[in-house]
Amino acid sequence: MQLRCALSVCHVLMLVLCLSTAEDFDWTKNNYGSFYYGTFPTGFSWGAGGSAYQTEGAWDKDGKGLSIWDVFSHKKGKIQLNDTGDSSCESYYKIKDDVSLMKELRLNHYRFSISWPRIIPTGIKSDHVNEKGIQYYDELIDHLLENNITPIVTLYHWDLPQVLQEKYSGWQNISMINHFNDYANLCFEKFGDRVKHWITFNNPWSVAVEGYETGEHAPGLKLRGTGAYRAAHHIIKAHAKVWHTYDTQWRAKQKGLVGVSLAGDWGEPVDISNQKDIEAAERYVQFYLGWFATPMFHGDYPQVMKDFVGRKSAQQGLGTSRLPSFSPQEKSYIKGTCDFLGIGHFTTRYITNRNDPPGRSSSSYFTDRDLAELVDPRWPDPGSEWLYSVPWGFRRLLNFVKTQYGNPMIYVTENGVSEKMMCTELCDEWRIQYYKEYINEMLKAIRDGVNVKGYTAWSLLDKFEWDEGFSERFGLYYVDFRNKNKPRYPKASVQFYKRIISSNGFPNQREVENWRRKAVEMCSSSNQLLAAEEQRSTAANILRLIHDPLTSHMEMVTEIVVPTVCTLSILISAVLLMFLLRRRN
Ligand code: NOJ
Repeated sequence: MQLRCALSVCHVLMLVLCLSTAEDFDWTKNNYGSFYYGTFPTGFSWGAGGSAYQTEGAWDKDGKGLSIWDVFSHKKGKIQLNDTGDSSCESYYKIKDDVSLMKELRLNHYRFSISWPRIIPTGIKSDHVNEKGIQYYDELIDHLLENNITPIVTLYHWDLPQVLQEKYSGWQNISMINHFNDYANLCFEKFGDRVKHWITFNNPWSVAVEGYETGEHAPGLKLRGTGAYRAAHHIIKAHAKVWHTYDTQWRAKQKGLVGVSLAGDWGEPVDISNQKDIEAAERYVQFYLGWFATPMFHGDYPQVMKDFVGRKSAQQGLGTSRLPSFSPQEKSYIKGTCDFLGIGHFTTRYITNRNDPPGRSSSSYFTDRDLAELVDPRWPDPGSEWLYSVPWGFRRLLNFVKTQYGNPMIYVTENGVSEKMMCTELCDEWRIQYYKEYINEMLKAIRDGVNVKGYTAWSLLDKFEWDEGFSERFGLYYVDFRNKNKPRYPKASVQFYKRIISSNGFPNQREVENWRRKAVEMCSSSNQLLAAEEQRSTAANILRLIHDPLTSHMEMVTEIVVPTVCTLSILISAVLLMFLLRRRN
């Protein structure tokens, strides 16, 4: 009762504080209806993104080595419909085409990743450097710059060289730190004269949890309760080492920035008057974003992670925590290694407290958190199963980053929504709605004082969506994967995003509504064009099949010979049966 009273007083105090400091903004309230018309700070950078394995294709061309994703996706049953990124969008061959799409959107920046095995085939620099790989990224960077588009380059978007996985068990092994540092150093040397924004790791949460805990992603290991923590530990150290390398060897000359891109869903307490739920929601965010951000900004894991994993490990009878620890020297080495923080944000969960006592043998990252995740069934859910549109969560997450990590410079490195449809649909009104609302929440967060410098729509193109294969489309541009030329078509959201960029925000209700209406009008004609094109290519495929001697032979066997033999057998049996019956009568 006393706690409740104290909480209510705190709540009122907080509201008063927010009202007096944040003008008309109160990010603690779910103002579903309120839309803020206004513009972004001058120089705000608008972009779109993609990553090497998801878009490049050319998986075995020009001396590229294998990555863990090449190997994982070729194993049956790992990816929806056994899709692979072998050819994907063929972006490797389409630099000019793709840069003209970016021009069409008037992008200020493009975020892409370098494929480590494309430039160092085994992952070990002393083995061999692949000049053709270097050439490809040189061309891409040059072409972007010629078109006034700033490259934001990720060094690791999940495609570890397979040799490093086989030889050392990948991120389970401490030796990755030096190999990654050699690779990063090579990138700084080759591209750093032109690239000024580096991201060491993309979404290390996924690498650790889905790669080494649940095994849904490459390399597919299921080392529950330990694998993710160990991988994350090495990734954090590798990040720090690369930041120091840049800082001591390149910064003075190249004058760039080195950051990281972290994934962070927002966690909202189910019951905001229940202290246990409030703490559980905080834990959810700390185990997600805080796991990586807290060491990089404050030198160590969040206290709540150390407490929870430590206690559960002890209850399991383990002598030490499953969460590794940093030495005092490591803590000071890691602290302060983010020139900017990249945030990849897509969705939100409601969180409630749930005790998950550890079994003697079973433990996992998920049960370590002692919480349950819930969703509101009214939240729109157009595409990926996990992705609900909850725009207000974005503003809260950005404010959380501001207060927890000392208002760092932020780039939103990923934000967007998918659709599940396999059929063609360019009129993506739900995506327009998603972008409109999420970008607006980001604008409100900037008004709250959050230091957001840029926004990256995810993604430029439809692409290989990891274990979901091509079944989930995040692109502003539709890619026809059935056509071997992989043509791109603008969805309606291209027109809408383009207007936001040109106006650097949302001028007024009438205009924004006009953008939406025009975008939808334009897309219906492109939709018809694409449908006609698809019919044409389906017809061409059928014709090709008929003319291909082997397939026509097989078709003759399956479609003519087999049914004819079956029908004849049935007829003969019927005649025989009648004959026998007659004779008996
Ligand atoms: C985060 C990953 O970094 C990105 O590659 C992926 O496309 C999005 N999530 C959407 O699932």
